[in-house]
Amino acid sequence: MSKIILTGDRPTGRLHLGHYVGSLKRRVELQNSGEYEKILIMIADAQALTDNFDNPEKIRQNIIEVALDYLSVGLDPNVSTLFIQSQIPELTEFTFYYMNLVSVARLHRNPTVKAEIQLRNFESNIPAGFFCYPISQAADITAFKATTVPVGEDQLPMIEQTREIVRKFNSIYSETLIEPEALLPENSVCMRLPGTDGKAKMSKSLGNCIYLADTPEEIRQKIMSMFTDPLHIQVSDPGHIEGNTVFTYLDAFCQDKHFEQFLPEYNNLEELKEHYTRGGLGDVKIKKFLNHIIQSELEPIRAKRKEYEKDISAVYDILKAGSENARTIAAQTLDEVKRAMKINYFDDTTFIQFHTQKYKM
Ligand code: TRP
Repeated sequence: MSKIILTGDRPTGRLHLGHYVGSLKRRVELQNSGEYEKILIMIADAQALTDNFDNPEKIRQNIIEVALDYLSVGLDPNVSTLFIQSQIPELTEFTFYYMNLVSVARLHRNPTVKAEIQLRNFESNIPAGFFCYPISQAADITAFKATTVPVGEDQLPMIEQTREIVRKFNSIYSETLIEPEALLPENSVCMRLPGTDGKAKMSKSLGNCIYLADTPEEIRQKIMSMFTDPLHIQVSDPGHIEGNTVFTYLDAFCQDKHFEQFLPEYNNLEELKEHYTRGGLGDVKIKKFLNHIIQSELEPIRAKRKEYEKDISAVYDILKAGSENARTIAAQTLDEVKRAMKINYFDDTTFIQFHTQKYKM
């Protein structure tokens, strides 16, 4: 069976370092591995509208931001199909039919939906569209017969829900859909990069993100004011690594070569951690080191973004072509789904014949 990747992001803001280590970097590696027959990367605007329906302007503004971030990290539109969810009307059709296969109780039990309902204080006023977004996500995945869905850990319940829908569909109608598998980040630090303030997650509303498109000076300021170890007051004090954001970031980004380049007194991260724990190593020094590393990682990304920013209409053309391509694939699968569900009346000539005969008598 050929391997197909589908994944995506909600266009609610520019992408940040958390997205980068948690998913974008991996996508580019997967794209360049040559192992996948198709790679589809979706800007999930319709999903973003399920909890931003009253602010469509925000979603509209961020489509180009996400597209620029995708292109700047190295997603190549000649290899990967970059598209916009709302431009594939077939997806809503899948969603409507899949709704029959999922109970309201099952949606209530979805841990991701549960957490989001709490976060947004929806309680008894949950919009039906939002409540059903896991079903729409199953549509996104199955429409392209994706085998592989690279996502963060928080998306596992979505993939599980999709797998259930696929099994139910295939058993009730006929073997039509593919059961996808999640592909998680390899490195546990990359599963969830904390915010610069040490909070569990980078989030725009907390203002603790380093964006891929930040200027070198913005990045430097954010790193220099990062949360470290509140007990490490004097340079000579022993420091703690656990819960120390600078070290968490170093775990995610630092390679031995960075010591040679930026901090030759140490050979590797273990030595640096050891010195910090012992005492005598100041926060400014480790922050400066981290700053060098992050700058060197983001510099080529920013340069590539600048190139694409020069021709925004070409970026829209990429998204348009990608959406047309994605639509062709989804329409093909939808035909198969409708055939399996016996709602393909007009192309079913034997069915029409049968009724013709029946009413001849
Ligand atoms: N739910 C994902 C997010 O919040 C976005 C998304 C929508 C997605 N449809 C998808 C991810 C299908 C993977 C597969 O980031």
